[in-house]
Amino acid sequence: MGKISSTDRRGRRLSARSKTATNTSAARWLARTLPFLLIAGMAMLAGWPVAQAQDSAAKPGKAAIASAHYMATEAGHEILAAGGNAFDAAIAVSSVLAVVEQTSSGIGGGGFWLLHRAEDDFEVMIDGREKAPGAATTDMYLDAEGNVDRDLAVNGPLAAGIPGEVAALAHIAENYGRLSLAESLQPAIRIAREGFPVYEKFHTMLGWKKDVIKRWPAASEAFLLDGEVPPMGHVIKLPDMAEVLEAVAEHGPDVFYRGEIAQRLVDGVREAGGIWTMEDMAAYNVVEREPIRTEYLGYELVTASPPSSGGVAIATMLNILEGYDLENMDRVPRAHRVAEAMRRAYRDRALFLGDPDFYDVPVERLTNQYYADGLRASIHPDKATPSDMLPGNADRTEREDTTHFSIMDAEGNLVAATLTVNLAFGNAFMVPGTGFVLNNEMDDFSAKPGVPNAFGLIGFEANEIQPGKRPLSSMSPTIIRGQDKVGVIGTPGGSRIITMVLLGILDFMDGNDPEHWVSLPRYHHQFVPDHISAEPDAFTPEEVAALEAMGHTVEVSSRRWGNMHGVLWNQETGAVSAGSDPRSDAGKAIVR
Ligand code: GLY
Repeated sequence: MGKISSTDRRGRRLSARSKTATNTSAARWLARTLPFLLIAGMAMLAGWPVAQAQDSAAKPGKAAIASAHYMATEAGHEILAAGGNAFDAAIAVSSVLAVVEQTSSGIGGGGFWLLHRAEDDFEVMIDGREKAPGAATTDMYLDAEGNVDRDLAVNGPLAAGIPGEVAALAHIAENYGRLSLAESLQPAIRIAREGFPVYEKFHTMLGWKKDVIKRWPAASEAFLLDGEVPPMGHVIKLPDMAEVLEAVAEHGPDVFYRGEIAQRLVDGVREAGGIWTMEDMAAYNVVEREPIRTEYLGYELVTASPPSSGGVAIATMLNILEGYDLENMDRVPRAHRVAEAMRRAYRDRALFLGDPDFYDVPVERLTNQYYADGLRASIHPDKATPSDMLPGNADRTEREDTTHFSIMDAEGNLVAATLTVNLAFGNAFMVPGTGFVLNNEMDDFSAKPGVPNAFGLIGFEANEIQPGKRPLSSMSPTIIRGQDKVGVIGTPGGSRIITMVLLGILDFMDGNDPEHWVSLPRYHHQFVPDHISAEPDAFTPEEVAALEAMGHTVEVSSRRWGNMHGVLWNQETGAVSAGSDPRSDAGKAIVR
């Protein structure tokens, strides 16, 4: 089992909680109550005002929303102003992003919504991840020579899993919202009908994906002007999508999974060479999953569980890093240790992570402190470990995409949601009369053991393709709680999501605010390829030289990555703040 207590270097003993997921209500109660009692006890012993330790019972009083598009952030606040809670706002933000940011997520895709309900501290991860169709086979993307046909795996209808977003939004409305699904969908319906102006990221991604989009007339008509990328500011209207959303608002999710829209989708996919059936659509199910819980230096983290690899990898990395005095370490030895922790967590991702409904993922082991102690023992203080030397055993060519938003309402309900259609504009295929592209999430499976996918990620049996299975994800929506602050964090970015969230978490713990977390220069290691990739300003040339002297290869990228959005409630000062990644022109954080 995980360790029972920890004393952080800031001198606060905050938690007597096991590091592994808690599944029973008694364990949940204990897990949630014990830290508070300990905080209160320690506060009294330390002579702190008890009120300081009791601040967690207060409410933020203000709402904060940070998302990848200003229209989505505004829509979330509109729904809060209409009497909705954070979960209704999450439906509005998700559905508006599905309209205006089809580069990244949509009702043709899926995602994970991590919810925290303030009134009873209930927490759950809503798994709306896509599922492989019933006719999917392990070798469906292999050509006659046994090589992965990359075009088949990422472009066009064969690349699409059965979408989960509509089912997830309906589930959230029914079980957690205060408003109806129809009410929360109104901003998205309005924007789909009235249109949104082309913005820089949309413009860039459209240019990059244009040739694939042109293969499919409905997608081409929806997004291009005479086959060309429209100019910035051109208003894109999606009346077909408005009708689909209206049908869902009026009739509920059944129309999408069993009714007229399901039939339209299945017919369109099959006519274009796909394998979806009405049975696949009807069989789609949302799963409520217990989040991964871990702690680090007295902070408590609640994060994504399988079929995301994110939470397990974050727990492994933090457990490794907890053995170092990172706070007082120079930048190069710190980056070396963080990169080595990343390397080891991504090796485990490749070997052991997959859909828990199909594969027995060893979550207890991978999130266990003793296991991490063993991994840490294999890290040399001044030498990189070549990935070849770790048991288990690549380059990215695609432009990843996905989206993340963070919400805190005035009552303290929280949502961390990371949603995706996988690569930019998903598989670029649009069924005529629908107005939305389908995902290419099937590429998140391992199409062939050890052969990298679009993100350079490898996988084996745990993540092989099987009918009805959910592909392994890196999406890592996360809630962080300290003694006197609560944060919500996440980002898109394909395989780099997990390490970006790790760096954001460490920055939160360094005492910085959301604007700092989201702006931070990033670096990443994913086991294979065996190099640290770094944003242009992540390291100075001297730091790169020092890391290379340790045996690391550092690839300094010409571009930046990620689009992180976070919110923070400082319970000591009462301040609520939010941050939107400066890497994107459209994102917006609003506290109101
Ligand atoms: N499609 C990216 C992910 O789920 O990790």
